[in-house]
Amino acid sequence: MNNFTFSYPTRVYFGEGSAAQAFSAELGKVGETVMLAFGGGSVKKNGVYDEMKALLEQAGKKVVDFSGIMSNPTYIKVQEGAELAREYHVDFILAVGGGSVIDCCKVVSAQAMLDEDIWNMEYGKGKFPAAGIPMGAVVTASGTGAEMNAGAVITYEEKKWKGPIFGTAASFAVLDPTYTMSVPSMQVLSGAFDTLSHAMETYLGASDEENVSDDVALAIMRNTVVNMRRLLKDIHDMQARSNLMWDSAMAENGILKCGRLTDFQVHQMEHQLGAYTDCNHGQGLAVIHPAYYRHIVKDAPEKFIRFAKVVFGVDTAEAGVEALEDFIRECGLPTKMSQLKSTVEITPEVLRQVADTCNIIKCNPRELDREEIYQILLECM
Ligand code: NZQ
Ligand code: ZN
Repeated sequence: MNNFTFSYPTRVYFGEGSAAQAFSAELGKVGETVMLAFGGGSVKKNGVYDEMKALLEQAGKKVVDFSGIMSNPTYIKVQEGAELAREYHVDFILAVGGGSVIDCCKVVSAQAMLDEDIWNMEYGKGKFPAAGIPMGAVVTASGTGAEMNAGAVITYEEKKWKGPIFGTAASFAVLDPTYTMSVPSMQVLSGAFDTLSHAMETYLGASDEENVSDDVALAIMRNTVVNMRRLLKDIHDMQARSNLMWDSAMAENGILKCGRLTDFQVHQMEHQLGAYTDCNHGQGLAVIHPAYYRHIVKDAPEKFIRFAKVVFGVDTAEAGVEALEDFIRECGLPTKMSQLKSTVEITPEVLRQVADTCNIIKCNPRELDREEIYQILLECM
């Protein structure tokens, strides 16, 4: 095991009705003006916005709306939010949504308290923000685990780049599975596949065998697959939604990463695919994963055999990769680039740009070069 330091910045309130409990415990600690941040309107349709607003007003807060945070949030949207936060002297940010809203708010929080541009600071000087407007997260669509970490994934359109910017972690998170009931079924499954991907990408990092984090990651993968299958039978299965919500948080809250290196090469490819197109994150991962694994399966045979046995109940490394691909099909998730919804056509030229600009991971079973990454992406056509 590698050395590590581990602490949790986020208190989690899990279960039906937990927002009221969270707000009565948490809101007394924060100032008067609260930015209520949300996406394209789902929270207005399903009543979550009204519920949040009423709870904030009951707690005596002045509410400033920050609306229209898009999927794959952009750097421009971050700057808009930071400007609004400064203008209204916001004391606290409440992010109500999926990974996109939560991520956008993490960086709004940090940018609002900085004089300099946060991207230049992090990528130019290698410095990270020391402070941010405190924030909380109410998860309405699970999968990313964004509610329990400080890393945000932001699309910088002008630079054709999608990647992490570090901002503020939520001091508390509300995980009420009933809020996810209105999420369209394809998004539910795409989000859950993102969770599966986080656990697989962590597990396949080059690290010592048989470490405790591997065992926990395999349990998260197995549980995610079991509960996705339950949802295929009944998309309204609350137990399955609840398990997937906690799987999602567990897969990206850092606990699986303790004492080990991680892979995340597929995420690097998918994020750049997201920079050049506007495809859905979980669906992009579903397309790329099997092709990548076919390339590296012989570089980590023992790990792949364990994955095959524990997650899919098959015996060989190659059968595990096939079972993963079959499972993606079973879920109705895309298996080809052409099945991804994107306003930009995904051509070999686009894939060349993705291969030429994505980060290359050095602690996966085998470091790839750009040519092989391009080949993998072409195999997904
Ligand atoms: O915008 P609204 O109208 O709210 O609709 C959203 C959006 O269209 C909808 N939705 C959310 N809650 C709903 C709902 N619809 C009905 N009922 C509800 N209760 O769902 C759609 C997708 O939402 P979005 O937040 O974009 O999805 P997701 O949670 O998958 O987040 C994706 C973003 O997170 C990043 C991805 O790259 C992508 O930008 N990631 C963040 C990570 C992190 N911070 O740790 C890790 C991940 O690997 C990932 O990269
Ligand atoms: Zn992800």
